[in-house]
Amino acid sequence: MPNNLFSKNILPKSLLGRSLLIIVTPLVLLQVVSALIFFETHWDKITRRLATGVAGDIAAVIDIMRREPSPEGRAWAARLAASTMGFSITFHDQAILDSVTTFVNDDMEKNLLHALQDHVQKPVRIDATSLERHVIIEVQLPDGVLEVVTQRKRLFSSTTYVFVLWMVGTSLILFAVATIFMRNQVKPIRRLAIAADNFGKGREVADFKPEGAAEVRQAAQAFLAMKERLQRQIGQRTDMLAGVSHDLRTPLTRMKLQIALLEGADGAEELRGDIDEMEYLLEEYLAFARGEGTEKQTETNLNNLLRDATNQAMRKGEAIDLHTEEQISLPIRPNAFRRCITNLIENGLKYGEHVAIRAGRRAEFIEIIIDDDGPGIPEDKREDVFRPFVRLEASRNPGTGGIGLGLSIARDVVRGHGGDIVLGESPMGGLRATVRLPV
Ligand SMILES: Nc1ncnc2c1ncn2[C@@H]1O[C@H](COP(=O)(O)OP(=O)(O)OP(=O)(O)O)[C@@H](O)[C@H]1O
Ligand SMILES: [Mg+2]
Repeated sequence: MPNNLFSKNILPKSLLGRSLLIIVTPLVLLQVVSALIFFETHWDKITRRLATGVAGDIAAVIDIMRREPSPEGRAWAARLAASTMGFSITFHDQAILDSVTTFVNDDMEKNLLHALQDHVQKPVRIDATSLERHVIIEVQLPDGVLEVVTQRKRLFSSTTYVFVLWMVGTSLILFAVATIFMRNQVKPIRRLAIAADNFGKGREVADFKPEGAAEVRQAAQAFLAMKERLQRQIGQRTDMLAGVSHDLRTPLTRMKLQIALLEGADGAEELRGDIDEMEYLLEEYLAFARGEGTEKQTETNLNNLLRDATNQAMRKGEAIDLHTEEQISLPIRPNAFRRCITNLIENGLKYGEHVAIRAGRRAEFIEIIIDDDGPGIPEDKREDVFRPFVRLEASRNPGTGGIGLGLSIARDVVRGHGGDIVLGESPMGGLRATVRLPV
């Protein structure tokens, strides 16, 4: 749509650009319209009147000269013209004009010519170019040529240019002032956007203060209140879980000790297995419920993190192909993120034989792809498996163990960093898990 194209390509995207446009467009329009009106009517009228004045004066001089044709009379007329009209007059006796003005260069000459034709009604020659500040007007009289030199400013008002200069100058100043003010208004909005973005990515929102216009400050305060509430909730959850975990671990340890005393007794081995499983379940559940946790984000080298996680998994004798396209370093919570990657690798190895990991920078995010050659997950189940304690029927055999928290934890961690995990089909035949983190 052309309309769409217009708004996409020509209109500025930033708030600063748009608000300046809102100020400047009417300003320019107003000035153009007023300048046009001024030039069309006022200025034209003024030059015409000035020309009429000069032509009238010249006609008066000619009249006087006709009455006083003697040389003394003419000299007196010239003196009179010089003192009262600002003309300097010379009379070339018996001379004849070699050319007559018919062609004019500009409005001033046109108006002057018209005025002379109206008032003097004799052949004239106008020379506005030979002298810088004066205009020479020659009039053919019956007995010679009358040469009148008059100041250009009697015919032309330079205040017009001054007017235009003032107009352009003041609007430039206004534009500069508006830019400065608008930029100051936009700054707090931009800072709020950055703070909200950082918070969404799980990063620290350092010393953010609400400032700016009332509405912006209100939005910033609402954001801060929301952030406080969320952080308080997370804190409460973590505190409660720390308590639960402590309370449960103590009896479990006690049970373990008691089993050790029951050495060799019937069922002691199974009991120990059950207790180990309970411990594992507890750890997993705590890890999930801790979620955001209290770990701080730190600048982490992703290549090292992926290598460590891979090496650890390979220690169990599995084959993993790790390929990182370049050195990537970004702020993340290293322990939580490593847990996420480990969970995905473990799944790959548990449900498939081989795992391949690929990591690289894309336009707006960092992408980590984990492929395996297992059975994969049918498309309609790919969202379900992210729910806690969801395991697919096929994998519900004791050999693969697991409680169905791995993917929930992984997604929780990645979303806590402002990213997401999506599942898909791997070219290796199994599942492809794609982790995307904002940069
Ligand atoms: N790479 C994979 N290939 C095929 N199925 C998978 C894969 N990863 C996960 N699944 C399916 O998704 C279910 C949920 O995975 P999830 O990691 O959340 O739990 P889990 O592996 O069963 O247990 P754990 O909590 O020990 O990780 C699994 O039970 C399995 O059925
Ligand atoms: Mg798992």
